[in-house]
Amino acid sequence: MTETNFIPSEYSNEISDGKVTYKSPSNIALVKYWGKKENQIPANPSISFTLNACATTTSISYKKLASKASDYSFDLLFEGKPKEDFKPKIEIFLNRIEMYLPFLKDFHFTIETSNSFPHSSGIASSASGMSALALCLMAVEKELNPEMSRDFFNKKASFLARLGSGSACRSIEGDLIQWGNHADTDGSSDLYGIKYPYELHPIFKNYHDTILLVDKGQKQVSSTIGHDLMHNHPFAKNRFDQAHENLTKLKRVFSEGNLKSFIDIVESEALTLHAMMMTSLPYFVLMKPNTLEIINKIWVFRESSKTNVCFTLDAGANVHVLYPENEKEEVFQFIKNELVVYCENGQYICDRIGFGAKKM
Ligand code: DP6
Repeated sequence: MTETNFIPSEYSNEISDGKVTYKSPSNIALVKYWGKKENQIPANPSISFTLNACATTTSISYKKLASKASDYSFDLLFEGKPKEDFKPKIEIFLNRIEMYLPFLKDFHFTIETSNSFPHSSGIASSASGMSALALCLMAVEKELNPEMSRDFFNKKASFLARLGSGSACRSIEGDLIQWGNHADTDGSSDLYGIKYPYELHPIFKNYHDTILLVDKGQKQVSSTIGHDLMHNHPFAKNRFDQAHENLTKLKRVFSEGNLKSFIDIVESEALTLHAMMMTSLPYFVLMKPNTLEIINKIWVFRESSKTNVCFTLDAGANVHVLYPENEKEEVFQFIKNELVVYCENGQYICDRIGFGAKKM
């Protein structure tokens, strides 16, 4: 498939007004996307667990205009209140996707959106937010073209979400989603995320992710700037090669259920992501002292308990604590006893693997 497959021909149906709603989850990458080419094409492939609890719910009410407008016509409400400062980001998104959704200037849209997680919790809302928005717009397109298949709907929703925020393309479905061309993964694509197409050992079903909110402040450096700093980065080529190799190694891990190798790959990916930040020019550090305290505690506990708890990090200070279902009591007790003290206001979110977005 190429981009042009997502440009529609004539629509078969006419619609005047209506409302669509989607709830779309966040995701946590195991092999990280860090660095991109033009048009949100990733510099390396990535894979993530789709989450369940952390989600954005978005509704779009649409009303046909008397004639096509010269610009986008929309209102935006975040948690029930107008949110002017989110509008420019949405306008950029609409501009990027207009050639794939040529009806955008034919309607007035009211976009209402809210998150399940606390605002400014340091949790990135771009994956859940952009995927929910892309799905709502696809639901409008499906009303204009009811013959569209479920498979095409999901692919195009992922393709559009990617143009809003790269990682958002991995939030349409679950439970394990891969994005980006990878020689050892059939069907993988730079254009959209695919469901992991091979066997997954049952140990990875119901995997838990407890998100420790270490720092709820605004990040000093956005992901978009961080991605950009991978251009001319001294270690970029090696890093991109390593991501391909880690995905190949994970194939075996996922089929055999070897948690020791899983931990090695996932923790190395998290630390490599932050190593790229620390070695770019300008360099920056997003971890906080408590991020490191937590990592050290996890290592000590893992050794003494012989459990398989491990961590990963996003582009921020928060820590995602990952563990299998059969260890949940022991690990959760450890989190409460020893890790919550490092969270800002003692806040954390209990999440687990999820199965993708839902129409509401
Ligand atoms: C560290 O998807 O937020 O979470 O495409 O610029 O919106 P943009 O970046 P974004 O980058 C996420 C990077 C990451 C790793 C990952 O999710 O793979």
